[in-house]
Amino acid sequence: MKDMMKLSEAFTNTFHEEFERVFFAPGRINLIGEHIDYNGGHVFPAALTFGTYALVRRRTDRQCRFYSMNFPEAGVVTVPLGELDYQDAHGWVNYPKAMLRYMLDGREPSFGLDFLYFGDIPNGAGLSSSASIELVTAVALNEVYDLNFDQLDLVKFGQRAENEYIGVNSGIMDQYAVGMGKKNQAMLLDCDTLECTYAPFEFEDVLVVIMNTNKRRELAESKYNERRQECDTALEVLNQELNIRALCDLDSDTLEERQDRFEDETIYRRARHVVSENERTREALRALQAGDVHRFGELMDASHRSLDKDYDVTGVELNTLVESAWRHGAIGARMTGAGFGGCAIALVREHEIPRFIDEVTADYERQIGYAPTCYVASIGEGAHEIKGGSIS
Ligand code: GLA
Repeated sequence: MKDMMKLSEAFTNTFHEEFERVFFAPGRINLIGEHIDYNGGHVFPAALTFGTYALVRRRTDRQCRFYSMNFPEAGVVTVPLGELDYQDAHGWVNYPKAMLRYMLDGREPSFGLDFLYFGDIPNGAGLSSSASIELVTAVALNEVYDLNFDQLDLVKFGQRAENEYIGVNSGIMDQYAVGMGKKNQAMLLDCDTLECTYAPFEFEDVLVVIMNTNKRRELAESKYNERRQECDTALEVLNQELNIRALCDLDSDTLEERQDRFEDETIYRRARHVVSENERTREALRALQAGDVHRFGELMDASHRSLDKDYDVTGVELNTLVESAWRHGAIGARMTGAGFGGCAIALVREHEIPRFIDEVTADYERQIGYAPTCYVASIGEGAHEIKGGSIS
């Protein structure tokens, strides 16, 4: 993490004025419940202490200017408040532009803003760097323009930005976790009703290790949209006889009884992942509440295998990391997020973590040809203003 002095200096160097307010939104991991938020299922994410900072100052004209210390090559991008259409050339700035468009919704504030962003979550690592940019922008706009939205509205604006403006048909998990996270709490979210059960994420002497494949996530967006489409097809097949709103309305037995209705075996496997993952996720909450780390770990392992064999979103890098984690003493390990590269997570006994990281790193480097990045996760707060301007 950068210290506040450095961010403040960067702001002044970029905009030749001092910043006025600072906002923060975290990244997230998902403990279990993958690729089911868009199927009406349960997910189990937690916000991280890593995330995105935004320093903001009001301007006297009606322009917004954006600079990110993570994309210095993009320079300062100037956006007049009346010109908020998507533009390829604007790169990462399309995320804050989308938030401006949906949150202002025709309102015409009399002043624009200067924004400086800095994120300490790796971009494209599957830890929701984009939801983090969306939500840090959302809390900033909500405060500075006095818009009075509640936090759940901001979460929904973030998902809308992703779906309608950026064109990725993602579910609501990332924005929800990033917007509504609580320190040291995992959140079991029912994506159908948006009912959320918070549960302290603590197993005695066990921590979560994040393992980044450092693989560029090519084609992630098109493959993601393809999986959504396959789930829609599965729902259509099932609804020739049933009347369900989402795949997660089913249980595994009911699905299995209908296997022969699927002409395309791939479509059946996609549905089998979704339905079984929803069951695993609900059981994971019970395992956490009972303090049963071994059961929680087994559920994570089964989740990874299902994402590999039935959902086909892992790939050689994630499989190498997770299999190595299993060999070197992880109590449970799985990919986290959309897959196709990005990160995996493992539950590891605290005193074994240095050895575990060394061994997994050596395995991965030998098999893949470059090193992963591993670090211990800590669970932090959802998007908020940092009052008094000091980053702790
Ligand atoms: C991405 C999406 C989420 C979710 C996960 C997979 O992170 O943004 O909505 O679908 O993939 O669980």
